[in-house]
Amino acid sequence: MSDSCKKTYITTPIYYVNDVPHIGHAYTTIIADTLAIYSRMVGYDTFFLTGTDEHGQKIEQAAKQRGKTPQEYADEISSYFKNLWDEFDITYDKFIRTTDEEHKKGVQVAFEKMLKNGDIYKGTYKGHYCISCETFFTETQIVDGELCPDCGKETTIVEEESYFFKLSKYQERLLAWYKENEKCIMPKTRRNEVMRFVEGGLEDLSITRTSFDWGVKLPESVNDPKHVIYVWLDALMNYLTALGYGTTEEKMDYWPAKVHLIGKDILRFHAIFWPAFLMSLELPLPDHIAAHGWWTRNGEKMSKSKGNVINPKEVADAYGLENFRYFMLREVPFGGDGDFSQKALIDRINSDLGNDLGNLLNRLIGMSGKYSDGKVSSQNVVKYYNAELEEMNASLDKLEPLLYDMQLHRYLEELWRPLSIANKAIDKYQPWNLMKEGKEEEALALNGLIANILAKVAIMLHPVMPKTTNKIAEALNFTIDVSNYNTLVKNRDLLADFTISKIPPLFPRIEEQLLEEAKPPKEEPKTKKESKKEPTAGVITIDQFFQTELKIGTIVEAEEVPKSKKLLKLKVDLGEEQPRQIIAGIKEWYKAEDLVGTQACVVANLKPAKLMGMLSEGMLLAAKDESGLSLLRPEAPKVAGTKVS
Ligand code: MSP
Repeated sequence: MSDSCKKTYITTPIYYVNDVPHIGHAYTTIIADTLAIYSRMVGYDTFFLTGTDEHGQKIEQAAKQRGKTPQEYADEISSYFKNLWDEFDITYDKFIRTTDEEHKKGVQVAFEKMLKNGDIYKGTYKGHYCISCETFFTETQIVDGELCPDCGKETTIVEEESYFFKLSKYQERLLAWYKENEKCIMPKTRRNEVMRFVEGGLEDLSITRTSFDWGVKLPESVNDPKHVIYVWLDALMNYLTALGYGTTEEKMDYWPAKVHLIGKDILRFHAIFWPAFLMSLELPLPDHIAAHGWWTRNGEKMSKSKGNVINPKEVADAYGLENFRYFMLREVPFGGDGDFSQKALIDRINSDLGNDLGNLLNRLIGMSGKYSDGKVSSQNVVKYYNAELEEMNASLDKLEPLLYDMQLHRYLEELWRPLSIANKAIDKYQPWNLMKEGKEEEALALNGLIANILAKVAIMLHPVMPKTTNKIAEALNFTIDVSNYNTLVKNRDLLADFTISKIPPLFPRIEEQLLEEAKPPKEEPKTKKESKKEPTAGVITIDQFFQTELKIGTIVEAEEVPKSKKLLKLKVDLGEEQPRQIIAGIKEWYKAEDLVGTQACVVANLKPAKLMGMLSEGMLLAAKDESGLSLLRPEAPKVAGTKVS
């Protein structure tokens, strides 16, 4: 980073308040927090923003289902996010809510400016709208004439008066931006994806809605009270309104953002709409938009209905918050998807943290206590261990570019090299033998090498594990701050002296999984009366019937299972985050292509099973007689996920 961008602005997406925080949200926030701590540590004036996205039809509906007003509901869920980040010691400088008055005002000011610049016009919108994604799709984008290309759920046809943003006008300028700025979208593959999409042509974007209320109203000057502003324009503007755009303008000198951290699912909004909005507002574009991958559980997307959502607080409580931070950043290459497993987490804690780092510190504590009463000097390190120092410096030099390229897993991998250099040096030079042989100067210099390596690693690991590294610094008797970063890391100096003190082990070994694996939701305990009653042969109670969860599913994909006479592999939308895979023995009676877009009745709470090695997460109901088999379907189309009772 050059000196010209000493003001560093880092953002997370603002989280929807229709769900409680999970591991995916924690991941985005932890990456951003790591960058923010790093940026402050190296002396940049940093502003780190997070918050909640609270408007839109989805939130309005979620509130209604719970019998709350949207504001009450948003207040409640927003506080879950804020509390979690506080418990996680996330170092945000501002927590923005899109229901904040200043934000709403800023969005209206932006609308007025875009209007004034000739980028907004009034027209009629007719198209497919996915409530779940809060996104409009064109005829060519939707799947099977009605399904959302992103989440597979049914879209609704909306025809209403709308204001449009002239997105098409910015197509060429956007393409030029992507071409001229190799790292404007990271990883590179994502940039290519976005370029291909934009080259395919951009349509103007409907940016107001009249069919619901829960949103930012148009500015009074426009005098059109039935419209609210499209939730993505409202949400994206948070990156500016948090700095006072349209109100105090107080912190606008942080703009443009150094990096917007996002998940891959919201790339299009950030990489196409957002820069176009900024161009219209005549503001500079962010340096980077960095899109990470998804966390899955046993290869599947997490969802509440599958009961496989990982609660980040539970993991942090069980395994240690900073161990969890290290794991998330080290385990998965940025941009790729990662599967969460306790085993992998335990391995990282015991091996990388416990063996490589914790034991090295313990060895130093032990040896320095024994040979020199805890006093360690760097006096003869260069004389005896210059090769090790050079090797260590070569590794440290690689770190900063890796961090700014979001290669956090490689950053940590590279940071472990100096630890390995130190551990190997102890094994190779065997200081206990050096002491016996009377080579005390050499043995003590080795302690100097190790102490310096630990100090430098602690500094560079600090953004990922702030408290743990402060404990290491305390044990070595130095502080992690800008000045030590400059001397020890940037200038490659050695710290003249250390006084080593004993501290409790930082990474106690973990022998077994500390969290129970997710189990399917428990059955309600039976009442005494129910359990005593003898069942009547062949008759079930209404409660027993309701133990089977029957739902209407829309078949969104179907294909033949190779080498099977009977099986078809289906993707069935049950109104959940992602369609389920169901392997159905209906090939003799149905052609795969005929099924797509049709509906069927599905047993939704059947224990998942494997058929021919493929996971089946439900069962279709069907009736079979001599004339063949028929699927049971609703008489008229029903919303995917509708309960059958
Ligand atoms: N409100 C919008 C963002 C507006 S930003 C102007 C939104 N919110 S979200 O709550 O649905 O998602 C927020 C972030 O969490 C996204 O970056 C998304 O990618 C991330 N994750 C949600 N689930 C995830 C996983 N399972 N794994 C990793 N991250 C995922 O989108």
